[in-house]
Amino acid sequence: MRPSLLPALFLLLSCSGSSMFRSDDRVMLESLVELIEMDYEDHCEQRAAASWDELVGAPAALQRKLERDKVYGIFSKKQTHEIRSVLTTHMLSPNDDILRRKVKLLLEPGDTMLDTEQWIRLVTFGDTALHNLRYATDYDCGSNANCTLRELHKSLTMQHDDETLRRMKASWEQKLPSLDEYRQHILPLLRNASKEYNYTTVEEYWDSLAEYEGGLLKARELWDQVKPLYLKLQKYVSLRLRGEDAIGKPIPVHLLKSLTGDDWLNVIELLLPKHADIYQKLHANLQLKNLGGEKAYRRAAKLIEELNFGPLEPQLWTESNFNGQCPPILVDSCKPNNVKMYTCKDVSIANYMDAHEAVMKIKYKEVTALHSNNTYVLRDANRYSALYEAIPGFASLLSLTPHALNRAGLYPLERFNYRNNPNHHRLVLQLIIALRDLPKLNYYLAADEWRLQVLMGSITSSKVVSSWSEFRKNFSLVDSADVELLSDPYVTFNKPFLGKFMGLILKYQIYQTFAEELISDDADLAQHVSVDNSRLMEAMSRGYGVLWPAMLSDLLAKREYGLEFTALTDYFRLLDEYLDNQLDPSLDTNEMEYEEPPVETPVENEIPIEKDADNEVELDTHANILENVIDTGDDGPMKQGVETSTVGVLEIKNPVGANNEHGEIPAEASYSTYWWIGIAVALAVVVLLIAIIAKKRHSHRKQLERQRRDTSHA
Ligand SMILES: *[C@@H]1O[C@H](CO)[C@@H](O)[C@H](O)[C@H]1NC(C)=O
Ligand SMILES: *[C@@H]1O[C@H](CO)[C@@H](O)[C@H](O)[C@H]1NC(C)=O
Ligand SMILES: *[C@@H]1O[C@H](CO)[C@@H](O)[C@H](O)[C@H]1NC(C)=O
Ligand SMILES: *[C@@H]1O[C@H](CO)[C@@H](O)[C@H](O)[C@H]1NC(C)=O
Ligand SMILES: *[C@@H]1O[C@H](CO)[C@@H](O)[C@H](O)[C@H]1NC(C)=O
Repeated sequence: MRPSLLPALFLLLSCSGSSMFRSDDRVMLESLVELIEMDYEDHCEQRAAASWDELVGAPAALQRKLERDKVYGIFSKKQTHEIRSVLTTHMLSPNDDILRRKVKLLLEPGDTMLDTEQWIRLVTFGDTALHNLRYATDYDCGSNANCTLRELHKSLTMQHDDETLRRMKASWEQKLPSLDEYRQHILPLLRNASKEYNYTTVEEYWDSLAEYEGGLLKARELWDQVKPLYLKLQKYVSLRLRGEDAIGKPIPVHLLKSLTGDDWLNVIELLLPKHADIYQKLHANLQLKNLGGEKAYRRAAKLIEELNFGPLEPQLWTESNFNGQCPPILVDSCKPNNVKMYTCKDVSIANYMDAHEAVMKIKYKEVTALHSNNTYVLRDANRYSALYEAIPGFASLLSLTPHALNRAGLYPLERFNYRNNPNHHRLVLQLIIALRDLPKLNYYLAADEWRLQVLMGSITSSKVVSSWSEFRKNFSLVDSADVELLSDPYVTFNKPFLGKFMGLILKYQIYQTFAEELISDDADLAQHVSVDNSRLMEAMSRGYGVLWPAMLSDLLAKREYGLEFTALTDYFRLLDEYLDNQLDPSLDTNEMEYEEPPVETPVENEIPIEKDADNEVELDTHANILENVIDTGDDGPMKQGVETSTVGVLEIKNPVGANNEHGEIPAEASYSTYWWIGIAVALAVVVLLIAIIAKKRHSHRKQLERQRRDTSHA
């Protein structure tokens, strides 16, 4: 800390207002801002250290974290008052954009302007709530009645019994803070914070923090357009989870194997279309390669490098903790290039995608920090930018593109492109992504709307909004508990989700502008982004120096100038059709045939690859697919996926009828079926042998690698 210079400068500035130094005022103001930013940086560093200690469970860390957060609020309020008191209009010339922007951000730091007692109440509530959730050790994991939050998350994905799921979730709800306290003493602080900035409503205040005028209005408008797709997905999930009678009714959150219902990916195995080869392989290969924790992050960092953004700062790998809890938390000490990850080692598609998003966020921070104009406040202002959400989200979309999956050794490109199958695979990928993003989009807006309505006092006039669960039933068609909202740091700290909501919309727009530039659907999107990443670089390098909506037209290559829902709905086109067909089987399906890829493809390739020692990724893939063929037998979730894909509506849609319509001769089909069965039996034997060899060679390789690593470390 270097507070000694500040008072002197401050004094000088206050005297200069009416004096002859007028032309030097600007220089003075600039120095004052610079000093204040340095102090902010010191605070940030100390808060980051305390947060980190609390995350990794250092003794008495919660106390220190609370202390840091309290002091921070007092400090921030004081700096704002100082700038306010010296600032006069003549200090800033009209073309002094950067300084003007910094001053504005420092003058409006958000909730820290609350009265000290109120600020302390806010951070105490939030910090304590999260700490209690994180460190409770008596969650009910079904088989184990005393487990940790990490184990709870993991067990949820594997539990199939409804009653047990309900019990597991109930054990978690007990750890949440008091809803009454939140409603009476925490949420209303938002009204007081908005008053500090003379906003008449909290909505205006949130719009200003998201830096989008009429932001919530825009969000509602966007949601109205996305809602039909969400409702179709919700109906389809209801149908597959609870049968036809449940269509149109709210889905109980615990049936979604989720705690808050903002992510439905855990039930995907009940929802897969008939030909879900890509899901099965992706799921299996992630497990076989153990692509969780640091490995997933290293793979994600590789994608970022492939996009031509360069490597990440090396200390990320030495200082992060990949053995903690999910979802990932990024701890930034606001010194350029000093960011750490705290996350878990569990392997899942969701964690794999989260890793890509997190790594891109770190890269974002690095790029912003590279530009010398971006001092503290232009990097770390208390603002909710959609860009800051969308660009990292775009990286996670890219991680599930065919070429990226191929490079990661998760699904071979030749298998993806086999005959008419690509659209079947695309549909499955869209389903994976939709199950993550559509419920989130809804949840974000629901949480913001509910808080605003409660604050506006609609409680008395309409019973529906009086509780979160009632509101959510109507708004989301999800049947949840009242308290579960209080597990979310954005809620306990009174932050708006608006930026995240808009980021989710924008990410598909970014995707679309790049995808439209591709020569064909089969081209490599990541490769294309890598040769043309300047749009992204430019936007990232400006940090908070420019309002994010003003950067949209350049970012979107001038095709669009604002937020549009169409990129998102276009992205999910195949899924949308599929959902229509599932919900109304009488519709003409027009479905393209799926052709089982020949099993020998990997066998043929095995030989040349064998010689190509560098091509490790390919080798892994094939070895894994073969292992997978053998392993599926008693694998719980996999087995379930196979079983469920043969029941219910899909049965009605059995493609025999469709084949006839398309003029195919059934006899021919059955002939070829027998032929394939014959071949398959013969191949199965070969495959088994090769798999054993491949696996042996694979583990031998791993051993060699380990030895190599060990010796290079020594
Ligand atoms: C869980 O922990 C509590 C307190 O530590 C103990 O009383 C209880 O017996 C434990 N339950 C199980 C099933 O281990
Ligand atoms: C908001 O501010 C007013 C006036 O300072 C105060 O009386 C009230 O208690 C504050 N609200 C909350 C929730 O603390
Ligand atoms: C809010 O309004 C009051 C009274 O008009 C004024 O004194 C104060 O400076 C305003 N605050 C801000 C942040 O504009
Ligand atoms: C950074 O500041 C310099 C000097 O103030 C200015 O010339 C330059 O354009 C700024 N760069 C950006 C990216 O705003
Ligand atoms: C349910 O939500 C819709 C908007 O999504 C709203 O128009 C309607 O009034 C709500 N119903 C009730 C009973 O509040």
